[in-house]
Amino acid sequence: MRESPFLAACRRQPADRTPVWFMRQAGRYMPEYRAARARRSILAICHRPKLVAQITLQPVERLGVDAAIVFADILLPFEPLGLGLSYAETTGPKIWHPIRKPADVDKLKKVDPAADLAYAIEGVRQTKASLVAKFPGTPLIGFAGAPFTLASYAIEGATSRHFTATKQFMYEHPGAWHELMDRLAAMVGAFLAEQAAAGADALQLFDSWVGCLSVMDYREYVLPHTKRAIELAATAGVPIIHFGTDTATLLEAMAEAGGDVIGVDWRIPLDVAWKRIGDRAIQGNLDPAALHAPMPELERRVKDVLRRAAGKPGHIFNLGHGIQPGTPVKNVKAVVDLVHAGR
Ligand code: CP3
Repeated sequence: MRESPFLAACRRQPADRTPVWFMRQAGRYMPEYRAARARRSILAICHRPKLVAQITLQPVERLGVDAAIVFADILLPFEPLGLGLSYAETTGPKIWHPIRKPADVDKLKKVDPAADLAYAIEGVRQTKASLVAKFPGTPLIGFAGAPFTLASYAIEGATSRHFTATKQFMYEHPGAWHELMDRLAAMVGAFLAEQAAAGADALQLFDSWVGCLSVMDYREYVLPHTKRAIELAATAGVPIIHFGTDTATLLEAMAEAGGDVIGVDWRIPLDVAWKRIGDRAIQGNLDPAALHAPMPELERRVKDVLRRAAGKPGHIFNLGHGIQPGTPVKNVKAVVDLVHAGR
């Protein structure tokens, strides 16, 4: 593959344009996704590699983004772990057997991603083959949830606002907490490396909810495990994006945990974040809500992000978090065109 602008930016090499892709670029805001989803659950889609490939390519076709992200979900490993997983239409993920006490950690099944998540890895393989055939030169991103964000779902049993149960478990049972994080880190690291072996050109670790922690707690309860997951994934030799939200206070520590690229949300100006993470590439950080703004305002905000990146090698344009349902597709496309038109 000729070096893509996205992969060049991951390595902080100059590219002929700023690369752009979007977290959750395949999803309910898109009519073609809703059509595929109308007759099946999200889990049913994830379990069928052919559909995964089709849906992953939808935004590449429609938007002209510089990278595809394999259609999957961070919670898929919860099925083989024995935690039980389903998705409700309005309230999101539901974990049927959440972790409530230390003994629940010991009851988790040992997961070997190559075997237990073989369908997801096959999804990566088939998606890569479709991309090479239809959009040669467009790289594929594989992904996984980071140990903390996965642990928070395993303990809360659903998306949470205050993460009280997670923190209570962490403070009350530090031994069991570290055991849980240790297992998740090993699994996530191996899963990511398998995705790269199946054709993923880059890997993103989603630590979506880690911003609920103080920097002290992050360093004590999370950093060593995230670092280990990233080190295991890095054996595959592809760039790694380390993403979190609400991380303005955690950026130095997150960079220390690892990642060739640090993903940042919109709560911190991009140039300020870039100074804080030092010599890494950076991904971000338009507010997803800006996609609902009138066009001149959206344009002003896109240009602000580009101005703060100042054309330095190593900026990957993205949102600060995923595209929300109800986002107008034409606004998403307009952002791609604005970013490609330049700085
Ligand atoms: O295009 C892509 O980005 C690839 C697909 C993708 C999905 N989930 C599919 C999905 C990715 C990268 C994810 C990651 C994910 N999943 C994260 C990390 C990113 C983030 O948003 O913070 C998290 C926390 C999850 C867990 C999850 N899955 C939640 C909270 C929900 C419900 C909320 C929601 O957005 O609906 C899901 C369901 C889910 N995963 C959907 C999609 C497209 C919802 C649509 C559906 O039901 O079809």
